[in-house]
Amino acid sequence: MRIYKAKDYKDMSRKAANILSAQIIMKPDCTLGLATGSSPIGIYDQLVEWYKKGDLDFSEVTTVNLDEYKGLPKDNDQSYYYFMHKHLFDRVNINPNKTYLPNGMEMDSKKETQRYTELIQSLGGIDMQLLGIGHNGHIGFNEPGTSFEKDVHCVDLTQDTIEANKRFFASADDVPKQAYTMGIKTIMHAKKIVLIANGIKKAPIIQKAFFGPVTPQVPASILQLHNDVTLIADEEALSCL
Ligand code: GLP
Repeated sequence: MRIYKAKDYKDMSRKAANILSAQIIMKPDCTLGLATGSSPIGIYDQLVEWYKKGDLDFSEVTTVNLDEYKGLPKDNDQSYYYFMHKHLFDRVNINPNKTYLPNGMEMDSKKETQRYTELIQSLGGIDMQLLGIGHNGHIGFNEPGTSFEKDVHCVDLTQDTIEANKRFFASADDVPKQAYTMGIKTIMHAKKIVLIANGIKKAPIIQKAFFGPVTPQVPASILQLHNDVTLIADEEALSCL
C-alpha cells in the first residue's frame, strides 16, 4: 500500500486527479470505478479543468459507479446519477452511453444486482477504482458486518450512515433507507484502488482501516489485502497514524 500525505483538500484532490489522469492517458479506453460523496468533488473539478485545457480526453473512457440510493429517481438532486452528471459527466467529453450506475428505480433488487454484476463482468473488470470512506469504515455502501464475499447487492443503510448523509437531505427521514452497492468482492477485483480521505473526522477510521485488524466490522480494512492500493489523505485524516 502506498500512502500519500496531502497538505489539504485541494492538494489531496490534485494528487488523486493526477493518478486518475495518468490511468486515462496510459489506457484511453480504461474502465474507471467512480465514487460520490463530498470527498471526490475536488478531483472531478480538477479533471474537468485539465479536460478544458486539452490535457485529458474522456471519449473512450467507460465508468461504473460504486453505488446508488434505492428509490431515488435520476432527476432527484441527491441521486448519485444526478451527482455524477453535475460534477463530471456533463462537463467532459465522455460518452454518456458508457457511464454506468445502478438503477435506483429498479425495485426488484435481485434483478438489479444481477444486471449490474453482469455489466461489470462484461466490461472486463475495473482498471482503477476510486473510493471514499464512511466514518464507520464503509466503502461504497458496504456497512460494517457485510460479508467480504458479496458482489453487487442491496443494503439497508445503518443509522450511522443515514445520520452522516442527512446533511444532503431536508431531514434524516428523507434519506433513503436502502441502496445498491458494489460488494467488497467487486471492489477487490479492481486492478488498482485509490482511496481518498480528508478532515479530522476521518482520522480514527483511517487508522483502524489501514493499521487495525482486517475485519468485516471495518469494511475498508480488507483493502490491506489488495496488492495495488493508494491512500491519499490530508494531514488531518492521517493524524492518528
Ligand atoms: C457515502 C457514499 C460513499 C462515500 C461516503 C463518504 O455513504 N456511499 O461512497 O465514500 O459517503 O462520504 P464523504 O466523502 O462525503 O465523507
